[in-house]
Amino acid sequence: MTALPYFSSARHDATLSASLRRGVLDGLSASPKTLPAALFYDARGAALFEEITQLPEYYLTRSEHEILERHAADLALLVGPNAALIEFGSGAAIKVRYLLSALTSSAAYVPMDVSREQLYAVAAERSLEFPDVPIMPVWADYHEPFTLPELDPDVRRVGFFPGSTIGNMEPDQASDFLSRIRETIGDTGGLILGVDRRKDPRILHAAYNDKAGVTAEFNLNVLSHLNREYDATFSKAAFRHRAFFNDSASRIEMHLESVTAQHVRVAGQSVHFAVGETVRTEYSYKYDRKLLDAVVSAGGFKVVELFTDERQWFWLVWLEPK
Ligand code: AVI
Repeated sequence: MTALPYFSSARHDATLSASLRRGVLDGLSASPKTLPAALFYDARGAALFEEITQLPEYYLTRSEHEILERHAADLALLVGPNAALIEFGSGAAIKVRYLLSALTSSAAYVPMDVSREQLYAVAAERSLEFPDVPIMPVWADYHEPFTLPELDPDVRRVGFFPGSTIGNMEPDQASDFLSRIRETIGDTGGLILGVDRRKDPRILHAAYNDKAGVTAEFNLNVLSHLNREYDATFSKAAFRHRAFFNDSASRIEMHLESVTAQHVRVAGQSVHFAVGETVRTEYSYKYDRKLLDAVVSAGGFKVVELFTDERQWFWLVWLEPK
């Protein structure tokens, strides 16, 4: 049986871009300056991120694949039969294939993504690959309220949030996000969460300062995105990529540093950068067990099982409501 009911989001593209625009202008007038991480992911940024996942220094994606390959059957046991797998930010929906292959029977796969074209293309692909699994795509931004397709009340709802994207949220935001997932999955649900672990800062530093300069280009591409979409006048040559591990906050910080004193126009406003001033483009939190328990617990979950890779660099965590 193949079902492809296409659910569209209550939120329209225009609303999404209006809130992003607000984020850009608020962030550039704040002190210190910040930019929304969503700016990374225009078409070029998405392609650069794909390249990053293949870099020798960027261990995250490989580690998570290793765990999925090794523990898909364990995860399938925890998920159980007749579950709907809801993926928040499904992208190319590659990792979920390990789970869909290992599950003996599933009620549905619900990929959710903000990129409508990719969402429906991926839904069609997975539907051909797993003809027994109803695929119910939801076009939505998972940061915002969303509506799920109707599922039988006896279907277990299991969230899937791989990739350590939780690390790009500050701990409070991560807990809030988990609370919303907790509401979505109900008392009997579960969540498979990908989490990057704290480790030797040299390994972390290398992962965000690759030799080939792809991460630098990924970071600087935010400026091209702003020039194109927000009538901005950034010169990429006037900024440089900076990424470092902030040990006390347990996070990688990515910034763009102004190499000169300059004025830039963005959406009709003038923004001044002092020489050496940075605009923060991303946090990427690295978790130890203490931080994980605190964030998860504040989000209404408890850690039930942890799966890690050979080097113990990454976790796939099975969470249940506490
Ligand atoms: C998407 N996210 C988990 C990536 C990370 O590692 O925090 C984004 C990224 N930034 C630089 N390289 C990759």
